[in-house]
Parts: sequence; structure tokens; C-alpha cells
Amino acid sequence: MSPGGDVRVAVLLSGRGSNFLALHQAMSRGEVPARIVVVVTDKPKAAGAAKAEDLGIPAVAVSRRGLTREQHEERILEALRRHRAEWVCLAGYMRLLSPLFVAAFPQRILNIHPSLLPAFPGLDAQRQAWDHGTSVSGCTVHLVDEGLDSGPIVVQRPVPVTADDDPDSLAARILTEEHQAYPEALKRLLTTSWEVEGRRLKFFEERA
Ligand code: GRF
Repeated sequence: MSPGGDVRVAVLLSGRGSNFLALHQAMSRGEVPARIVVVVTDKPKAAGAAKAEDLGIPAVAVSRRGLTREQHEERILEALRRHRAEWVCLAGYMRLLSPLFVAAFPQRILNIHPSLLPAFPGLDAQRQAWDHGTSVSGCTVHLVDEGLDSGPIVVQRPVPVTADDDPDSLAARILTEEHQAYPEALKRLLTTSWEVEGRRLKFFEERA
């Protein structure tokens, strides 16, 4: 931990970075005992990386171009080690992590997904829900394992699908919930005792 007891968090992203910002803002308000020490992106032009730089948070771009998956992940892990990251939050990071990467941060990697998992994993989850005709969708924050959007669930928030929704309006309402759910999940994991039992997260009392 860094001075002050804040947990050192790395954010991995590939795009606009609104969940990164929501995490950062919740930390700045003192709601989550953590701080973002580095933002890593596989897309050098990601808007989220520019937002990090504007905030004075180091942003590291590691393009996949010309690298094997192993080399790419090793470079990212180097950046995480250099910044002494203790937790990793995936926030719109569009690559599946290898088992080796996951093992480098055992039960310390979180992801946010815009559906109520296990429904609609993978790409374009909001459109998948809308196409399927569900009356409820939502978002899920989960620990990351080797699978696709498959680790133990930390927090879920439902979002009703209305008659006049389209995939974009649904995605926008889900995103608003994501911005609440992600800080809430990280806070819960950092301030309570818990363990993973099978697929389930078991929470105990608040830490002293
Ligand atoms: C979010 O919908 C998140 O659930 C998904 O990717 C999107 C990222 O959005 N994994 P943003 O870059 O955080 O704005």
C-alpha cells in the first residue's frame, strides 16, 4: 500500500474511459480507499489515456502491433510492476487476459460488463440484450478469471428496458449504473473481508 493506506490501482482501457473517470472521481471524493497509479492502454489514441494525462495520472500505451500476446502482456505487466500496482481494474479493455496475466494478480483483477451476467457475455452486450427482447438488463462487476466475462460476481445493477428504448438509449442508461457499480464493488472488496467459494463471493464483517 502507498502512504495513507490507499490501495494502488492500475486501470486498463481501450476506449473513452468513462468508467476510469468514475473510479477516479469516487477515489478523489474519499469514497474508495484507493488511487489510480497508472492507466495502461493497448490503443495509443484511446480517449481514456488522454483523460488520464489531463488528470496527471501516468498513461502508458502498449500497442499490440508487432508483438505476440505474451510479449504484449509482459510489457503491460512491466508497467504495472513499475508503478507498484496492487489491483487491476479493466474498464473497457477489449482483450481477454491470458491465464499467466490473471495469475500475476490472483483475485485482484476486476472487470465491468454491460449486462447482467451470465446473460450476454462478450461484445456489444447492450445490443445483444435489446435484440433478445429482454425486459431487464444491467451491469455486472466481477473478478476476472481465465474465461470471458466469467469470474465471480461482486455487484450487479439492473436496468429496465423500456418500450421506446433502442440499443443506444439502453447502453446510456446502463452506463450511468456502471459508474455507480464499479466504485461500489471496489470499495466493497477493499473494505470488507471476503473469500471466493466456488463461483460465489462470500463477504464477512467490515474490516476494522
Ligand atoms: C463499458 O460499457 C464497460 O461495461 C465495457 O466497456 C465499456 C467501456 O466504457 N466493458 P468506458 O470506456 O468506460 O466509457
